Amino acid sequence: MDLNPRGRIVRVNGPVVHLAGLPDVARFEYVEVGDRRLPGEVLTVDHDLAIAELYEYTGGLTVGEPAWAGGHPLTVELGPGLLGGIYDGLLRPLSDADEFLYPRGLTRPPIGRHRFEPDATIGADLAPGDLVGTVRTADRPEHLVLVPPGLAGKLEQIAPAGSYDSSETIATIAGTEMTLTSEWPIRQPRPYRERHHDRAPFVTGQRVLDILEPIAKGSSATVIGGFGEGKTMLLEQLAKWSDADVIIYVGCGERGNELADLIGELTDLTDPTTGRSLVERTIILANTSNMPVMAREASIYTAVTVAEYFRDMGCHAVIIADSTSRWAEAQRELASRTGAIPAEQGYPADLPAALAAFYQRAGRVTTVGGRDGTVTIVTSVSPPGGDLTEPVASHTQRFVQALWVLDRDLAYARHYPAISWSTSFSRDSDAIGRWHAANGDPDWVARRSRLQSLLAEAARLQGIAELVGVTALPIEERLVLLSNRLVREVVLQQSALNKNDASCSLPKQAALAQAVLDVHHTALALGNEGVPASVLEDFDFGPLLRAKDSTGPDDAAGVVAIAAGLTEAMRRLAS
Ligand SMILES: Nc1ncnc2c1ncn2[C@@H]1O[C@H](COP(=O)(O)OP(=O)(O)OP(=O)(O)O)[C@@H](O)[C@H]1O
Ligand SMILES: [Mg+2]
Repeated sequence: MDLNPRGRIVRVNGPVVHLAGLPDVARFEYVEVGDRRLPGEVLTVDHDLAIAELYEYTGGLTVGEPAWAGGHPLTVELGPGLLGGIYDGLLRPLSDADEFLYPRGLTRPPIGRHRFEPDATIGADLAPGDLVGTVRTADRPEHLVLVPPGLAGKLEQIAPAGSYDSSETIATIAGTEMTLTSEWPIRQPRPYRERHHDRAPFVTGQRVLDILEPIAKGSSATVIGGFGEGKTMLLEQLAKWSDADVIIYVGCGERGNELADLIGELTDLTDPTTGRSLVERTIILANTSNMPVMAREASIYTAVTVAEYFRDMGCHAVIIADSTSRWAEAQRELASRTGAIPAEQGYPADLPAALAAFYQRAGRVTTVGGRDGTVTIVTSVSPPGGDLTEPVASHTQRFVQALWVLDRDLAYARHYPAISWSTSFSRDSDAIGRWHAANGDPDWVARRSRLQSLLAEAARLQGIAELVGVTALPIEERLVLLSNRLVREVVLQQSALNKNDASCSLPKQAALAQAVLDVHHTALALGNEGVPASVLEDFDFGPLLRAKDSTGPDDAAGVVAIAAGLTEAMRRLAS
């Protein structure tokens, strides 16, 4: 990279440096600073003074050391071979997964050599997004080499099938050479042709989400929860089991050992649909609590840029970021050091704009090349003291489609995932209901609302039951309380640690939910026939309570059989 012209450091304040002698430098321009050439971005410019944030530890940096302006914004290099790798917030490879030894300077991912097969003919008129060739890697999905945004014209030359690295020209389009890789500025959304609002569900494999508060592919959601309520576990479950083509997992200011464990688990687990290791569809961006704070700031934009790159190939890409509160802490530190006027609780005044710029990059689009692709964003927010009115939590709620609230009482009672069904919401649920109706499950909407009304009715009755005792309630109400227990234990609770239950297919979800509703229906009928409430309450529902564990993750038929046996046994109570 040719970096010109040369300036110098005049002040160092933590990760923020003041630079003189870079006359034409622009806001968000990429800079390298000091003898170690630490990478950074310009935040403000004032006459001859530029203030930049650096993405590395600045200990030892002194006044007078040189600085270079890049002449372009901070970019990442996108290409084949990213999947399965671990990088920092600037997409620099981390050499050791256990220690997260981070690199210096702007090193690039080791793209390596890849087998390229041409798919375009010389003389063809190519536009951005058109297919140039395919790279055969161990990666799945297939890696498409596309004309990058901004390049168009006649294909003058194309490389024959063979093995190439990122320095070799694989095609010449209207006089411009292209390689297997391309650069993209992280803060700028990649272009697309059209945005769509009709969408298929983003299947998480977690019943409480898929049934009660589902989101669509191309949508966004955030998990809000206090300390230790299960945010990381839930996000890791999504990284493992959701039905995405590519997962970009951002560990942002969280514990390094959690990420190391996740990488180990993803390596050992196989994808049920492809039979291949789950790590092969995953890219991990690590900026754990022991790494320089500032690279967190860039990491979520890097993640969404990588996601858009795969979206453009026609993939369903998902960003999972744990946690955006730690990301916002970096914003707050910057605000205090640059002297920006702080707004709420010390966060910079543009915090809402920064959050919006990130979440708005989720979506389902027709790509510039005419493919159908999505970027889904799922994040966590860990507000101090579980306070939902705190700035990061309250602004995030405005920009996401779904809010998944963790409940302290549920977590304390070891009801996992501890998602509150009364305070969580999804703005996608009507659209998902229509999708189910059109795709073979017309009862989905009715099942969901019956489960919701059972839960709501039980919440109301529990207060009364505590005052007067359960036995004082009429039988229908006692049966609501009984079924409420079944909804919670059979449908909503799901163990991340049980291999049959960690993920649940949509048909098995439907079967479990229907089984509980059928039991409720049967119990009401038996009550009407004179079977006492206490007899129904003492009935052994064990087979149903164990059904999620005793059947495989996709064994809906197994659940249906267990439920049929159980309701038949219940009917014998009447005789
Ligand atoms: N789905 C689940 N199945 C089983 N156990 C769970 C589940 N979710 C959470 N737990 C339990 O709760 C503990 C804390 O969860 P986790 O680390 O995900 O919380 P967190 O909200 O990320 O915490 P922190 O605020 O410290 O980041 C886990 O170690 C595990 O024992
Ligand atoms: Mg956590």
